[in-house]
Amino acid sequence: MENNKIKKILERYPFVERENLIPILQDIQYEYGHLTEEAVKEVGNYLELPASKIYSVATFYSKFRFQPRGKFHLKLCRGTSCQIKGAEKLEKKVYKYLGIMNGETSGDGMFSLEVVACMGCCGLGPVMALNNRYYTEITEDKLEEIIDDYKESEE
Ligand code: FES
Repeated sequence: MENNKIKKILERYPFVERENLIPILQDIQYEYGHLTEEAVKEVGNYLELPASKIYSVATFYSKFRFQPRGKFHLKLCRGTSCQIKGAEKLEKKVYKYLGIMNGETSGDGMFSLEVVACMGCCGLGPVMALNNRYYTEITEDKLEEIIDDYKESEE
């Protein structure tokens, strides 16, 4: 099943050119939400690249994920304006509170984190989104409260 979908994606790139690696990985992530081991293997076979090379390229770009998203997907802005207003502290707070870093998903599958560039509302930073709901002027305490609210909604 997964193989067929990957093959369909690869058919969009009829010329075996290594510069297609990033667009192919983007298409796969768009389809699956993350890069699976199987996908990396298939792409490697197609482009005649070792899996280690694909992992090293994909890990260089923070947009690629290797784990499925959590039920609650948290996006934290790391744009310049949000950085100045303390976004880095929030990333550390997420790690302390949920044990996840950029691109990771909590062991229970509930929360995942994606650090993104500017989210387009710099004046209201630091900015974050949880399942596409936006939150502005986030502090560490506010972040904890928001996460708690989502956790409680599950109990
Ligand atoms: S820098 Fe964070 S919203 Fe623009």
